Amino acid sequence: MSLFNVYPLFDITPVKAKDVFVYDDIGTEYLDLYGGHAVISIGHSHPQYVSAISNQVSELGFYSNSIQNPLQLQLANKLKVLSGCKDYQLFLCNSGAEANENALKLASFHNEKHKVLAFHNSFHGRTSAAVAATDNPKVVAPLNAQQDVDFAALGDLIAVENILKQNETCAVIIECIQGVGGLDESTTEFYQGLEVLCKKYNTALIADEVQSGFGRTGDFFAFQKHNITPDIISIAKGMGNGFPVGGILIHQNIKATFGMLGTTFGGNHLACAASLTVLEVIASENLMDNAKMISAHFMEKAQSIPQIKTIKGRGLMLGLEFDFPISELRRILIHKHHIFTGSSKNPNLLRILPPLTIQIKHINAFFDALKQEL
Ligand SMILES: Cc1ncc(COP(=O)(O)O)c(C=O)c1O
Repeated sequence: MSLFNVYPLFDITPVKAKDVFVYDDIGTEYLDLYGGHAVISIGHSHPQYVSAISNQVSELGFYSNSIQNPLQLQLANKLKVLSGCKDYQLFLCNSGAEANENALKLASFHNEKHKVLAFHNSFHGRTSAAVAATDNPKVVAPLNAQQDVDFAALGDLIAVENILKQNETCAVIIECIQGVGGLDESTTEFYQGLEVLCKKYNTALIADEVQSGFGRTGDFFAFQKHNITPDIISIAKGMGNGFPVGGILIHQNIKATFGMLGTTFGGNHLACAASLTVLEVIASENLMDNAKMISAHFMEKAQSIPQIKTIKGRGLMLGLEFDFPISELRRILIHKHHIFTGSSKNPNLLRILPPLTIQIKHINAFFDALKQEL
């Protein structure tokens, strides 16, 4: 049987990885500044992570959500401490799209409205309502397009209010820093204004932290810089360091009823063990501080390169914008310098999403290679 051919692939076959390095089947070492699309948070094959998952699978890998699973509560409590989000409840699922799908559904259950407001250049995943709220017609099938979604420009509070005042919008969903869209972020005034409008019109504010959460920006969540309180926060990617796990943090103003949400695999024992270890390592190795420190070094280095038009993003969610398409540069970085980087919807933007354990020497190696090629 052939594989359904939906991914354009680089001809590289990783078989092993350690911290910020990935090794292919002929032993070539690659510096991973992509983190498997912002997924690797505490570094590949972290010893504490490997032993936690191994120990858990040897005891109990999975049981359904019909029994007590104290690991879920441990995870919720650790998440509360590390994120500082005190007034929330946790629902666990398996991916970013599923987190957003549950967030949107929950908002609609809560205020009984049916429309969604999202922003231009958004990416929220590939399932039903999540993909309809994604600003890319190429990934929205006619089936998904039946969902009622409005789009506004990031930063345009007037457009937001004109839509919300029609009183049909159950949720505004927003990436505080856009990932796939190309690392745009609006102002604190905009995010705070959005929160005010959502309250005024009884609309749930959903912060999609699937990519920007779990310390990637140097804060636990990217929205925290703007001092807002979303009604729902969606999480995935860095949460499991590669183990498929996602979730939503739900403000305690939203009440649960039995059966309202559910999943077979979500919050299973292995996923909890993986995510608990991620939180422990982020705390014990001060990885959020590291993200800030390395980010400052990265910015300084980037500023000294005249070909870089704009430096975008925060923490270790970064982008370098050039005045030419970066696809060839990215290919050369991989094949000649053995450095993985990322792309985005903006063809001129090189994306940098390394593990949060990255060190200055790795950033220097990247800039040496970049300078050589520019
Ligand atoms: C901001 C954001 N939300 C949601 C998703 C979807 O996550 P997943 O691919 O785990 O479904 C992504 C994936 O890139 C993302 O960047």
